[in-house]
Amino acid sequence: MAKKMKTEAKVLSQRLLADGIYDMWLETEMAGDAHPGQFVGVYPAGKATLLPRPISICEVDGARRAIRLVYRVVGQGTAEFALYQPGDYISILGVLGNGFPLDKAEGKRVLLMGGGIGVPPLLQTAKELKAAGKAASVTCVLGYRDAETFLRDDFEKAAELVIATEDGSIGTKGNVIDAIKENGLEADVIYACGPMPMLRAIKAYASETGMKAYVSLEERMACGVGACLGCICKTKEIDEHSQVKNTRICTDGPVFDADDLDM
Ligand code: FES
Repeated sequence: MAKKMKTEAKVLSQRLLADGIYDMWLETEMAGDAHPGQFVGVYPAGKATLLPRPISICEVDGARRAIRLVYRVVGQGTAEFALYQPGDYISILGVLGNGFPLDKAEGKRVLLMGGGIGVPPLLQTAKELKAAGKAASVTCVLGYRDAETFLRDDFEKAAELVIATEDGSIGTKGNVIDAIKENGLEADVIYACGPMPMLRAIKAYASETGMKAYVSLEERMACGVGACLGCICKTKEIDEHSQVKNTRICTDGPVFDADDLDM
C-alpha cells in the first residue's frame, strides 16, 4: 500500500473546465504512489474549515511528478481552491483510499462508467488499463447533464468512448445504462464512479447481466479522513452483535465490490 503523507504541493496550472468545475495540476511526490480511483485530502488555507476536502485523482504525470485534480466547487473550501494560481502552494494529504482493483480486468472486457463529477478518476483508470494491455477491451461510458462534456477530449485519446447526456445534446439521450443498451455494449467487469442512483442502477444491471461491478462511492465523502462519519454505508455482511455492518467509505473504500454493499 502506498504511504500516506501531508505535504505542500505546488500548483502548476489551474483552469475552469466547465460550469463550476476546475482542473488543477499539482507538483507532488505523491504522483509516484497514486493508484487509479484513489484521492487526496486538500486543506483549505482559511481557519474556518480545518478538515480537508477529498478530491479524486484524475490523472498522473510521472515525468512531471504531478497529479491532476478535476473538482467541482461546492462550498467555501473548494471555492478557495479555485483561486489558487500557478506557483502557489497547497496543503494536501495522500494518497488516500483503496482505488480500483485493476487486476480484476485481466483478460476481461471492461466498461468504465462515470457520471458527473465521478467522471475524472476514470481517466487515469482508462490510461493505466490501456497501458497495461491486459484487458481484452476498455470502453468508457460517461454520463453528463448536457453538452458540457468536460474531459471528453482526454477520454477520446485514452480509450473507446460512449457518451450519454440527460438532455440528449450529445450521444445517447438518457443515462449511462441507456447508452450501454443503445450501443449494444457487453462486458465482464465494470468500474464505476458517480452519484448513488447511478451506482445503484449499475449494480442492478450488472447482476441482471452477469457482470462484476466495482463502484467508487467517493461522492458520499465529506472529510475523507475518517473524522466526520458522514460517509457511513451499509454492507451486506451482518455483524453478530450489532446486527448491521457499517463501513466508512473514506477509510474502507471508496471502491467496493457492488455485491458487498447494501445500497
Ligand atoms: Fe468523513 Fe468518511 S468522509 S468519516
